[in-house]
Amino acid sequence: MNDLTRSGSWQQVAAQAARMQPTHLRELFADDPGRAQRYTAQACGLHLDYSKQRIDDAARAALLALADDRGLAQWRERLFAGEAVNATEHRAALHMALRASPDDARFAAVSGEVHAVRRAMRAFAQAVRDGERTGATGERITDVVNIGIGGSDFGPRMVCAALAPQIDGPRPHFVANVDGAELHALLARLEPARTLFIVTSKTFTTQETLANARRARAWLVDALGEEAVARHFVAVSTNAEEVGRFGIDSDAMFGFWDWVGGRYSLWSAVGLSIVLALGPERFDALCAGAAAMDRHFVDAPAEHNLPVLMGLLGVWNVNFLGCASHVVAPYAQRLSLFCGWLQQLEMESNGKRVDRDGRTVDYATTPALWGSVGTNAQHAYFQMLHQGPAVHAIDFILAQSADHPFDEMQQMLVANCLAQSAALMAGKTADEVRAELEAAGLSGAALKAAVPHRVFPGNRPSSTLLLPRLDAHHLGALLALYEHRTFVQAVIWGINPFDQWGVELGKQLAKRILDPGQRAGLDASTRALWTRINPPD
Ligand code: F6P
Repeated sequence: MNDLTRSGSWQQVAAQAARMQPTHLRELFADDPGRAQRYTAQACGLHLDYSKQRIDDAARAALLALADDRGLAQWRERLFAGEAVNATEHRAALHMALRASPDDARFAAVSGEVHAVRRAMRAFAQAVRDGERTGATGERITDVVNIGIGGSDFGPRMVCAALAPQIDGPRPHFVANVDGAELHALLARLEPARTLFIVTSKTFTTQETLANARRARAWLVDALGEEAVARHFVAVSTNAEEVGRFGIDSDAMFGFWDWVGGRYSLWSAVGLSIVLALGPERFDALCAGAAAMDRHFVDAPAEHNLPVLMGLLGVWNVNFLGCASHVVAPYAQRLSLFCGWLQQLEMESNGKRVDRDGRTVDYATTPALWGSVGTNAQHAYFQMLHQGPAVHAIDFILAQSADHPFDEMQQMLVANCLAQSAALMAGKTADEVRAELEAAGLSGAALKAAVPHRVFPGNRPSSTLLLPRLDAHHLGALLALYEHRTFVQAVIWGINPFDQWGVELGKQLAKRILDPGQRAGLDASTRALWTRINPPD
């Protein structure tokens, strides 16, 4: 057994889970009239209702004690102090400094350079948005293409989609995949003279990004000539040398730092496409929302602390209640890219099998995280969530007010979201089904045969997170909330959430497969597939 699973605090939580095992959520609600009020927490305008989680006061207290025992407060302090919490890469993880106000003394060591880049981003974006900074032919820039992948893509792509109605600058586009179909289809719709490319890559060595950037460059040069490149390409990176080698001048590069993890980087110059499309003020509001959540995470007592509670509920569900996965269902069409962003955040961070000291863990770490927007998801996999044999934990996310005029549709959206969590919680018993069917005129063998198919076990845990509206400020708070939830879980599991060695192996092998000199050493299946796709002449 690992230190964690042997620890008294872990055993205490396990005992609580065993105690609660026979209790249905229906009973928890029936026995506690104040439950819907007491199992809630608020921060930065966000309201969390976790009363439909299979938890009571004693279980929550045991989870909070586990967090204490795992040194959550101390790890949080180390994180915010800029210590090298990413031990395998000897790096800090100070993304909070990117969104803090310039006078926040906690980040004084880096604040100067952070805000120098922010000012440069603002000036550049403003000049493009005002039409002062034109393309090579003097035409206004109408389209901006961010070329990047992973953390250099998901964040800005998702934010631009989430805040799309507020876009008042050049149209943002995103290209990530090395499948040329993505770039090819986009270029067909663009005018070279009016297009600005942002090549976004922390390392500036990522195969997909460089392949797309080279093709985009060739497309531009073809139309406007080599000398146009300087007016149509900028870079976002930590690697000035590689940026120069690609042919982008250092004065067209917006920098960031090794203490910004890719998946935590949208607050840095990686967000340049957001600033261009939505304007500096909205980017500031996004950052301010995230900074407010940072302060809440640091200051709020654990029992009222949203990231702490959500992190602990995640651990409770996967490690103690045996939930098979974690589903996130935003009831907001504009959050259709949220799950993609979150998958990288949580699974690249916490998809680890060894603890900080390199010891193999004997407990689950991050579960598979997946989901998509409601109500569409209701017509896909929600059947499984209601009646499949495995239990999955769910986060429902809902913006209370809409920014469209179709009020009756917003009410339907709200009703559907609430209906799903209610149904998952309460389910429907055989007696209830029988009574319904009898009332509809069914009896005898037909009734008996019909009942089991219509029974819902319920007792399926969910949380509901309300945002007043989907604006930049609340979106920023939401994203920071999930970032810190990820960190809380990593602390409980004793793992490093800031490295991603698992991604490397595939990258190395892809290079080997492309290199004829190295292909012979590959396994027989891989060689056979390559040869089938690329038969020798
Ligand atoms: O997917 C692995 C990864 O290293 C991510 O962590 C990162 O966000 C992405 O690749 C892109 O890396 P880069 O910004 O260096 O191109």
